[in-house]
Amino acid sequence: MSLGTGRYIAYLVAAVFFILALKGLSNPKKARIGNIGGAIGMLIALVMVFTTSGLHNLWEISLGMVVGVVVGVPAARLVKMTAMPQMVAAFNGVGGAAAALVSIMFFSFIDGNLATLATYKVFEVIFGVVIGSVSFTGSIVAFLKLQEIMPGRPVTYRGQQAINGVIGLAILGCVFYVLVDPTKTVMLIVLLLALVFGVIFTLPIGGADAPVLISLLNSFTGLSVAATGFTLQSIVLIVAGTLVGASGTLLTMLMSQAMGRSIPNILFSAFGSKVTASGAMDKEGRSVKSGTAEDIGTLLAYSSKVAIVPGYGLAVAQAQHVARELAQALEKKGIEVFYGIHPVAGRMPGHMNVLLAEADVPYEELKEMDSANSEMSTVDVVLVVGANDVVNPAAKTSPGSPIYGMPIIEVNQARTVVFLKRSMRPGFAGIDNDLLYDEKTTMLFGDAKESLTKLVGAVNAA
Ligand code: TAP
Repeated sequence: MSLGTGRYIAYLVAAVFFILALKGLSNPKKARIGNIGGAIGMLIALVMVFTTSGLHNLWEISLGMVVGVVVGVPAARLVKMTAMPQMVAAFNGVGGAAAALVSIMFFSFIDGNLATLATYKVFEVIFGVVIGSVSFTGSIVAFLKLQEIMPGRPVTYRGQQAINGVIGLAILGCVFYVLVDPTKTVMLIVLLLALVFGVIFTLPIGGADAPVLISLLNSFTGLSVAATGFTLQSIVLIVAGTLVGASGTLLTMLMSQAMGRSIPNILFSAFGSKVTASGAMDKEGRSVKSGTAEDIGTLLAYSSKVAIVPGYGLAVAQAQHVARELAQALEKKGIEVFYGIHPVAGRMPGHMNVLLAEADVPYEELKEMDSANSEMSTVDVVLVVGANDVVNPAAKTSPGSPIYGMPIIEVNQARTVVFLKRSMRPGFAGIDNDLLYDEKTTMLFGDAKESLTKLVGAVNAA
């Protein structure tokens, strides 16, 4: 077997590891092993690149890798679970920039004989530059919004869609021009336009919609990496880029389905710029029933089936450990407990699964939305912990509501509903939730972690 064949086989093995990694990451139980599989695939790919004969700039490449490790490892280890979306945005932006830079460098290397370059080759390069640049600046804006360095609400102005459309068309025009006549000046113009487009395209997207945007930008980065792979004739880059492009696209589609909104609605509607509920006072003068931890603890202790439905507030309060303690206290009393997990509860895909896995909640107790809904009518008490939109019945009953069509966890089917939140303020969608005023609902006001801690005491004392 020649060295070349061995190298191709090694790349094939790396690609298989990447695919198995994605398979593992789609299931909480196997996510850790999937992640390790991905790292092994990457290690194989790196070893193969470093053992390529005639590799230039070894020192510069090694220096780049050291910088990556010094920045990346502490960032990944120290990041708080609630700050994960912005870290993904930052890392994705760097990936897009790297892909664009490789394409730019390639273009200037072959500067001398641009006209002799095959059109498909120019297309690969320009594709990598445009998509990588849009992904880079778009990810930076998403990062700034999520980190609250700039306002998270959609930034809108007059003629915004028209301006975005004109710049988008100008980029397309330049791309066609470069394909016919690959001059450096037009390349530079298209690069600048793509950088600007990444920013203006992201501005009208609200901070809470940013995870969907990041997933989309992630798929862009994957595509630009694949284009770079064609340019450099690197099989492993083509495979890895295509996998990222495809999985990012699928994740974007799944998230938008779970939110009951179309991708254009998420990208272009400036969702979240209008808040229709302030939470200060109910405009219809409806009353709200609030209870004490002792009352609710007693209610829980005398139930036979309890469901816990977590949402964004659980993440904010970091209440996952105490939620598990409460479940254990109930189980000790012979009460059946399960967690109902909505696919877009929180602010990133799998947010609740990650938090509850961190608290060592047994996987068997996590029920996905459909199976949680099928059992909800047999539940005595459902505790809605820092969730709002994902349990709002308006999604099923109010055709005019911004969340109409979003599948929800139907907590209103349970015998009693208890909301653990700090106030009557709305959730991400900025709309009222009628269930808060329902006669079967009791509010337990306060920070979710504090309320759950009190409930553990009350259940143990009952
Ligand atoms: P939300 O509807 O945003 O409601 C969260 C609730 O948590 C708020 O009503 C808030 O009420 C409460 N809260 C905040 N901090 C708290 C604390 N420390 N203790 C107790 N409660 C606290 O959350 P959800 O039900 O999880 O829904 C998620 C929303 O985000 C959906 O609209 C979804 O479409 C959107 N979204 C999700 C994703 C992904 S991928 N997960 C991506 C983009 C958008 P108080 O202020 O009164 O406490």
